[in-house]
Amino acid sequence: MKPYQRYLQRLGFAALTASAFAWTGAVAEIELTPHNLGSTGPGPNTFSGTAEICVFCHTPHGGDTSAAVPLWNRTLATPGTYTTYSTVSSSSITGQVAPVGSVSIACLSCHDGTQAMDTLINTPGSGTNPAAFSASGTWTGNDRPQGLANIGQDLRNDHPIGIQYGGGGITAGAPVAPTNDPDFNAPSNTVINTTTVWWVDSEVTPDGTRQKTDMQLYTRSVAGIDAGVSQPFVECASCHDPHTSNATFLRVSNDGSAVCLACHNK
Ligand code: HEC
Ligand code: HEC
Ligand code: HEC
Ligand code: HEC
Repeated sequence: MKPYQRYLQRLGFAALTASAFAWTGAVAEIELTPHNLGSTGPGPNTFSGTAEICVFCHTPHGGDTSAAVPLWNRTLATPGTYTTYSTVSSSSITGQVAPVGSVSIACLSCHDGTQAMDTLINTPGSGTNPAAFSASGTWTGNDRPQGLANIGQDLRNDHPIGIQYGGGGITAGAPVAPTNDPDFNAPSNTVINTTTVWWVDSEVTPDGTRQKTDMQLYTRSVAGIDAGVSQPFVECASCHDPHTSNATFLRVSNDGSAVCLACHNK
């Protein structure tokens, strides 16, 4: 607990110390965002065949487990089908690059534009019948993200993902670990279920606890990178929270480039 929280607690604002200061910035009402692809969605692309919301991404049963993504209801591409930023001849990149995976490959299961968004593993209702589900409705807008939102499989023109944090990693240390390259802010870490989890505190929640409004780093253990020791990596959802109602699904507003400056010490 921070000193100001203790102060508030003494003043009797006990509730404020715990929950209100775990402030999330915006209510996570996915229903009101372009990520509601069902018939009630407000975004440019909606499917009339179902009023379900979560089903386009998650399933309670039978999800794809080829990458570490939560109960994923979409088929994930083979990592090798993507071209990554690492192949741009940047003179300054130092982080090692992992195969496209983790939460990024889940985002890309729509945002690479290669499969229609009504292509689900477990369709609504009993059993699974993808063809019948696709035939049960029509798309308003398009069955894939459009314009810049269609990122494609060539990721060289996108901020690096699947990249080790810290300019070549971190030096072990808790609860805050120094980075190899001081151009990056030191990430915080804690152990949850025997795995070390990492994040970079944002200006919104700079309190050393892991909040959805901090930049999440994703623990990946990749053969050949630091001898298989789990390292924090930057993925799509480091900057974005697919559940937030912030503009462009950013974890925090990017006013003053707060998203960029959370990690880059520039
Ligand atoms: C557009 C895709 C998408 C939709 C639609 C979606 N989710 Fe998610 N959800 C994700 C992704 C991606 C993650 C992992 C995010 C991360 O790594 O922070 C996630 C994480 C979660 C988590 C765990 C982390 C957290 O935020 O608590 C829960 C629980 C969850 N989703 C529930 C739901 C429910 C319930 C719905 C429907 C109301 C839903 N999701 C709709 C993509 C989606
Ligand atoms: C979650 C942490 C994080 C956030 C947030 C972030 N970056 Fe990065 N960025 C990285 C990492 C890690 C690298 C890889 C650097 C390396 O290994 O040399 C990187 C690389 C870059 C590069 C390429 C550097 C090179 O040497 O080729 C640029 C440019 C960049 N970021 C700009 C931005 C901008 C602009 C923003 C805000 C929109 C941003 N970054 C937000 C972590 C982050
Ligand atoms: C089920 C398909 C699906 C998945 C999975 C998905 N998205 Fe989206 N996303 C969409 C659609 C559809 C739009 C609206 C696209 C358009 O403008 O054509 C969108 C829009 C966005 C936008 C732009 C919002 C705006 O206001 O312009 C961002 C940012 C975004 N998604 C990030 C993500 C990230 C990050 C993930 C993974 C954590 C993710 N999405 C996963 C379908 C998806
Ligand atoms: C380092 C931070 C960072 C990472 C990593 C990142 N994004 Fe973004 N993304 C942003 C920011 C900041 C914006 C808002 C740009 C703007 O305002 O034009 C954005 C915008 C978008 C948009 C909307 C495009 C537009 O400008 O209309 C989509 C879609 C999107 N991101 C998807 C993704 C997906 C999918 C991934 C992973 C493959 C990803 N992002 C990784 C920071 C990031």
